Amino acid sequence: MTSTALDTRIALASAPGAEWWRSAVIYQIYPRSFADANGDGLGDLRGITSHLEDLKTLGVDAVWLSPFMTSPQKDAGYDVTDYCDVDPIFGTLADFDDMLAAAHERGIRVIVDLVPNHSSDQHVWFREALAAAPGSVARGRYLFREGKGEHGELPPNNWESVFGGPAWTRVREADGEPGQWYLHLFDSSQPDFDWTNPEVRAEFRRILRFWLDRGVDGFRVDVAHGLMKKPGLPDYFPDADGGSMGGDAADVPYWGQPAVHDIYREWHEVLAEYDGDRALCAEAWLPSIEQTALWVRPDEMNQAFNFAYLETKWDAAALRAVIDASLAAYAAVGAPSTWVLSNHDVVRHASRLALTAENPQGTGIGPNSPGKPIPEVGLRRARAATALMLGLPGSAYLYQGEELGLPEVINIPDDARQDPTWFRTDHERYGRDGCRVPIPWVADAPAYGFNDTGATWLPQPAEWADLARDVEAADEASTLSMYTTLLDERRERRLGAGSLEWLDSPAGVVAFRNGSVTVLANIGERPVAVPGGRLITSSGSLVDGLVPVDTTVWVETD
Ligand code: NOJ
Repeated sequence: MTSTALDTRIALASAPGAEWWRSAVIYQIYPRSFADANGDGLGDLRGITSHLEDLKTLGVDAVWLSPFMTSPQKDAGYDVTDYCDVDPIFGTLADFDDMLAAAHERGIRVIVDLVPNHSSDQHVWFREALAAAPGSVARGRYLFREGKGEHGELPPNNWESVFGGPAWTRVREADGEPGQWYLHLFDSSQPDFDWTNPEVRAEFRRILRFWLDRGVDGFRVDVAHGLMKKPGLPDYFPDADGGSMGGDAADVPYWGQPAVHDIYREWHEVLAEYDGDRALCAEAWLPSIEQTALWVRPDEMNQAFNFAYLETKWDAAALRAVIDASLAAYAAVGAPSTWVLSNHDVVRHASRLALTAENPQGTGIGPNSPGKPIPEVGLRRARAATALMLGLPGSAYLYQGEELGLPEVINIPDDARQDPTWFRTDHERYGRDGCRVPIPWVADAPAYGFNDTGATWLPQPAEWADLARDVEAADEASTLSMYTTLLDERRERRLGAGSLEWLDSPAGVVAFRNGSVTVLANIGERPVAVPGGRLITSSGSLVDGLVPVDTTVWVETD
């Protein structure tokens, strides 16, 4: 694309009343697995900078970077020790500034990940808290409590960690005796902050300003639904074992507490101090779309991930229902809906959509998992699902590697796995490593071009040579070519800012119009007719002039 066309694109997206994030396609970069400039096996910021041109060619509007701040990496960077610096494994603040400038030069906006629910246990505040006495100011920044039982030997309540095991860990006090307990909804190395403490709130306003001053376009807010806990920290008895990031059940005393909205109203005001459209996107796994939409009221966040959409089965009726419910719930609060199919916490959709057994979020797939997907079925469905998603109005999130059709990596050796879930469940849940394997750029190169040394923090499967970007870029029928076409057509036709009109369709078919484009996804059992008009693109080949099963077409209609 010429730079003039790019300028036009930015100008359009930034026109008054049409903030860029309302219709943007936002590409998630998981820095440790994107590209590795220094060859140590972990991706880095300079690696990202070196591939921004590829993302421009792909046609995304923005990138979201998973955490690259200083961290002991116990949870792949979601355990931060210094929120205002770059971890040396990823580079330096200067590398960040270079990356940001290079992205902006190309018309790509940059969102960074903020982790406010918890810090690392190596954070200076937590180290101070451990060294301080019960009841001290330092302990008051986290959730320390006395234990139950005669000698405080039982945890303060029965909450369980998202990663498995108890959500409390007991500390040793200065006299060497077992003492108070601290809360960690995730790993024991991730103590939860006490967000009723004004000092915590002030610190995060400072952190927001630090990155806004550097020029970032917004924040993806980690565990945005978890910051406030129900007063008194009551026991919780879940009905069933739902997905691990929370939110299938109402009334969970640590998810979605009403008081959390005040925090984001404060943050909204901080962002409003800055020019341009800076955006906040909530990672909030909540029980209903209506509840999630409350997070994007006009004075709070701008977006929330649509996990209800991500979790919807490959089923026409279910997809129609979730799309309807999303459009209605977000319209009611004046926000666009978002759409997402993959991220670094879920089984990649090229595998997930062909699973034949239940697989709650966080379980992952490994050699002993039931219902493993047939790869060809998964890829066909993934391409059809993406073509359906990118036809919808609103903002869409992509996860690095999905544009190559990467599947979940199933055969990671046990001793290479790194997700805390794997360890905290005694290897019962494989966890999320399978969607985090470094992505392939060049078929015939060390580590498939991830770096030039061949080192990778998780092993890459041999089959990925065929899925490398250079191979796919040269193949018009590849998944990469399909994504590039879809993004180009979506942008040209302004589908993100469009609206949806359902079309009558048989069971098993999802069909709608968005502007001049008819999108039809065949999720049924037999081929169906192509809608009248000019075929723009198809997620798979037509057969005898019909749309085969697990295929989506875009057709131009007048
Ligand atoms: C959600 C993040 O996406 C996930 O990767 C992380 O483990 C948890 N939050 C804890 O920060």
